[in-house]
Amino acid sequence: MPKSLICNARIVNEGTIREADILIDNGRIEKIAASIEAQNGWDVLDARGKHVLPGMIDDQVHFREPGATHKGDIASESAAAVAGGITSFMDMPNVNPPTLDSERLEDKYRRAAKNARANYSFYLGASNDNIEEIRNVQPNQTCGVKIFMGASTGNMLVNDPNALNAIFADCPVPIVTHCEDTPTIQAAERYYRNIHGEDIPMAMHPHIRSADACYMSSALAVELANRHQARLHVLHLTTAREVTLFTNAPLEHKRITAEVCVHHLFFDDSYYATKGTLIKCNPAIKTEVDKQALLRAVVESRIDVIATDHAPHTREEKQRTYFNAPAGLPLVQHALPSLLQQYRLGRLTLQTIVQKISHTPARIFGVVDRGYIREGYWADLAIIDLRAPFTVSRNNILYKCGWSPFDGYTFPSSVFATFVNGQLAYRDGRVSPSVFGKRLQIENYEPRG
Ligand code: DOR
Repeated sequence: MPKSLICNARIVNEGTIREADILIDNGRIEKIAASIEAQNGWDVLDARGKHVLPGMIDDQVHFREPGATHKGDIASESAAAVAGGITSFMDMPNVNPPTLDSERLEDKYRRAAKNARANYSFYLGASNDNIEEIRNVQPNQTCGVKIFMGASTGNMLVNDPNALNAIFADCPVPIVTHCEDTPTIQAAERYYRNIHGEDIPMAMHPHIRSADACYMSSALAVELANRHQARLHVLHLTTAREVTLFTNAPLEHKRITAEVCVHHLFFDDSYYATKGTLIKCNPAIKTEVDKQALLRAVVESRIDVIATDHAPHTREEKQRTYFNAPAGLPLVQHALPSLLQQYRLGRLTLQTIVQKISHTPARIFGVVDRGYIREGYWADLAIIDLRAPFTVSRNNILYKCGWSPFDGYTFPSSVFATFVNGQLAYRDGRVSPSVFGKRLQIENYEPRG
């Protein structure tokens, strides 16, 4: 592989923005310097006027393989991810069969080794009765153990208090949780069904999957983690109230961290009138007040990570009535552009975005040599053009499901190119068919700087 030189880049990294050249050799960043003279045979990319970010590490995706590959698969969704500046992904266990043991985990790694366009790790799922699998899992086998503490797509609810206690007491890797209290949700479903029948208006979704249901479950997860001194990362916060459960201590002092997803920072309940079940997701998109509180929590570092919860379903499935439309949105291709819009609106700095999508996920999951633009690290890079607007349309959506909640929307900024392990994986609308990701090396799960 020839060396690659990215020149005149404005590099956003570790709290600063500075102009420099980046030399890549053998997949890794060899040198970062004010000016590096190109030599014969090197690939040179002039990034003048653009910014270079460490590629996004998305700690929550559902790529649907195995078992629901009519919605998406590792090849299709990772290609869309790379087009969105995502260079590593961590995939969820609610596939079919669910990823509940190390054999299923290794099956996913084998599939990814052949098909993933970005770097990958896979979560082991928790159930009410797989504690032995969890006790025996090694940090180099998985980014973490996922507990559905609320029922969602794929029937993986863990609701046995003894099982939860045992998992929080003994899990040797980070625990990540989906938090919504299922009995509270079921009671609300009964209430609204009595009023509306089967065809409940979408605007009721955040009242059924309510703020109370989220708070009860998130509070329980935090309580269990405190009781057992467990390492906990609570996924997709959606409410102002849940934010109060988390501190803004420096990351190296945190054992309990939190994530928010891009759609919960972009949409609010006013969108149900126009988007309907297309934006049905669990936990539900809540109010404008919640959205503002989540943004503030990102800025204040009560929320540590921004991810996608990319969860494709077919267009046909999403057009069903309330109870029959599955929850989840495809997002990986448009997550970074949506965050760049938050930057353009003055709500997040580029440095904060990079911290939440790259640095912090690398640190809290112990990902080796990624998440920063540093000499010696893998060259996982997203080159963005803040001044190149683009419109999401059927012609440029790469998800297998072929639709996006942003369909027809014009973002003010776009992803120009993506490097994965030093190779140009995406440029100008085209994903390279010959660039593949690597298995993420996970060293330990203490925050690392
Ligand atoms: O909306 C969601 N969709 N939330 C989840 O927890 C699961 C996901 C899916 O897999 O469809």
